[in-house]
Amino acid sequence: MEIFKEIAPLKAFLNTKKGQDSTVGFVPTMGALHEGHLSILRQAKMENDITVCSIYVNPTQFNNANDLLKYPRTFDKDTELLKKVDCDVVFCPDNAEMYREASLLKFDFGQLDKVMEGKFRPGHFSGVALVVSKLFNIVQPHNAYFGQKDWQQFTIIRKLVDELLFDLTLHSVPTLRETDGLAMSSRNQRLNEIQRQHALVFYQALDAAKTALLAGEQIQAVQTLVKGIVEQHAHVTLEYFEVAESKNLNPVENVMAADNPIMCIAGFVGEVRLIDNMFLR
Ligand code: PAJ
Repeated sequence: MEIFKEIAPLKAFLNTKKGQDSTVGFVPTMGALHEGHLSILRQAKMENDITVCSIYVNPTQFNNANDLLKYPRTFDKDTELLKKVDCDVVFCPDNAEMYREASLLKFDFGQLDKVMEGKFRPGHFSGVALVVSKLFNIVQPHNAYFGQKDWQQFTIIRKLVDELLFDLTLHSVPTLRETDGLAMSSRNQRLNEIQRQHALVFYQALDAAKTALLAGEQIQAVQTLVKGIVEQHAHVTLEYFEVAESKNLNPVENVMAADNPIMCIAGFVGEVRLIDNMFLR
């Protein structure tokens, strides 16, 4: 496995491989890798000759300084896991390499970044779009892979790729869960044992909401139901529960008439912020 901290030697390495007609699959991450990340890497491995994983905790997408500071960093363990899944290339730049000058660019995705995560984390998706654009320009992959766990992020990156004509194919990979249903997340590492049990409530609330909505319950009533379920737990707070059309994230009024609706949820367990989602059909 090749490890690069700098852009120039990574590009030179990949150009040689591309010259030999190798296809390149790319999995961007912020490290603190778990099985969810590894499932994406396994898919990329199957579909490409060379698989590149980036590990970079991107400061411009953190709207909360404490969240950035406390974001888990487990580089040695990450590289061990990447070796196990036979990842070919790791790109782990520092801030000076990724942001050679202070950035002025801001992205606006209209409705897509005004709702849900965009509403509660102002500037977050502009930072994501900025770093993903930089990474796409550096790696120039044939295929790029993202998780459904961050569905809103995926819809925004799809818009980015379409508008900026990035010459690559995007793939979204299903969310991997712990056996009890908790969505795997790097932030789960920050939960203590009790908080870990409480964190399951987001999945349980999605499950209950799905049953209620498919039984014909009105969305507002389901929102109240979800709030009740989540906030039964001390130290857990709900930030939002939304039902949206999965393609354009427009709010859904009538589940039965909506185009492939998705339920999205976010909240805090202690000071750890978690998100999850579930398709209705
Ligand atoms: P990170 O949170 O490290 O996630 C990297 C990728 O793993 C994302 O595409 C995310 O959706 C996916 N992922 C996370 N948990 C998952 C799970 N349980 N099952 C399947 N996939 C999962 O998302 C980011 O990093 C950053 O915003 C990034 C795109 C790298 C830009 O900085």
